[in-house]
Amino acid sequence: MANEVCFRTLSLEDPTSLSTYESIGGYSTWKSIIKGELTAINIVEELKKSCLRGRGGAGFPTGLKWSFLNKDIPGQKYVVCNSDEGEPGTCKDRDIMRYNPHQVIEGLAIAGFAMGADTGYNYLRGEYIEPFSVMEHALGEAYSAGLLGKGVMGSSITFNLYNHLGAGSYICGEETALLNSLEGGRGLPRFKPPFPANFGLYGKPTTVNNTESFASVPVILEKGAKWFLELGTDNSGGTKIFSVSGHVMKPGNFEVGLGIPFADLLSMAGGLATDRTLKAVIPGGSSMKILAGEIMMQVNMDYDSLRNAGSSLGSGAVIIMDDTTCMVSVLLRLAEFYHDESCGQCSPCREGTGWLVKILNRIIKGQGKKGDLDTLVNIANNIEGRTICAFGEAVAWPIQSFIDNFHDEFAFFVKEGHSMIIN
Ligand SMILES: Cc1cc2nc3c(=O)[nH]c(=O)nc-3n(C[C@H](O)[C@H](O)[C@H](O)COP(=O)(O)O)c2cc1C
Repeated sequence: MANEVCFRTLSLEDPTSLSTYESIGGYSTWKSIIKGELTAINIVEELKKSCLRGRGGAGFPTGLKWSFLNKDIPGQKYVVCNSDEGEPGTCKDRDIMRYNPHQVIEGLAIAGFAMGADTGYNYLRGEYIEPFSVMEHALGEAYSAGLLGKGVMGSSITFNLYNHLGAGSYICGEETALLNSLEGGRGLPRFKPPFPANFGLYGKPTTVNNTESFASVPVILEKGAKWFLELGTDNSGGTKIFSVSGHVMKPGNFEVGLGIPFADLLSMAGGLATDRTLKAVIPGGSSMKILAGEIMMQVNMDYDSLRNAGSSLGSGAVIIMDDTTCMVSVLLRLAEFYHDESCGQCSPCREGTGWLVKILNRIIKGQGKKGDLDTLVNIANNIEGRTICAFGEAVAWPIQSFIDNFHDEFAFFVKEGHSMIIN
């Protein structure tokens, strides 16, 4: 069940070339669309049945999202691929683009047809120079083969696609900040509603999906929703690429069926070093809630199981921490990141992130005060739900969950002025 969807070209020679992609059935769905064998309704219905959920973080059902954008409303529409991949720990979209660029292109072309958009953009984070050049090369091949452009293969279908490098900002992964950035403005999140489906890029109806979501679509339509659904669990169809990092012997990206026991994923990543025990895991990227190691060893890696355990699958970045980890230091590091990346529009986030860093810094220097832990949680509670975008939750959840799960360790540091972890 490994490498069956987004990484299906990985083991092939010359995995990024058009000929390799076509040799495994690539672009067959797009060609069926061009021949008029598939309708937009067929596509959206098949996606709904597949239970593909958005791989960018929130897990919103992709078929349902596509049904919001009515193909028949006249006027310009857009599809946008979110390859910003800023969530710490996440590096899967990078590898999809590096090793299977044509599947991303086909996914976007199919999406364009399904939603009546003749133009698509792939927005890559500023640092992704290599994936950008692989995508550019693949795009060139697709145009030369007549698979993209005006009146594709003599049909009435037009689809143009552009890769766009951002400037390397975490907030530009938030879909409305991404749209502002793509328009040439500052990457500041917009109020929602209106949602991008009504008012997106240049004010036109737009669908934004993650790279892994788009790359899954051609395979679902080629092999069928049932096939895809059965790779995962009832409510979490398909495979997912987990980026496993931290204290494991073989960190990397692993494409596996959703619902795999965490313990199996840990083994695939080589397990922990000898004599080490699992202390904690952030299962879905640094903005998701941390869970204790004992809990994770009982959990399956799918949307519902992780939610029931008190966290989220998020972007699928699994950050492993063994018993040598000082939770106070990790939380300070995360708080610094979010303080740095806050766009500054909303005062609870702009001011609160700085305040969190100041208190955690004081604790680390051995100058923690009684009441600091309550103040940290109080600040986090007052950021959560009080910002334009979900960056507020991304800041609050680590603070709340670290202190909740490892309260004794934090209290020890405040009282004694040093970490309880001796390395
Ligand atoms: C602060 C913040 C950062 C985000 N970063 C990313 C990102 O790097 N990549 C991504 O696909 N989605 C990111 N998202 C989620 C997007 O806003 C959006 O929900 C997603 O691209 C939709 O695609 P999906 O439905 O396929 O998951 C972020 C959201 C927030 C609030």
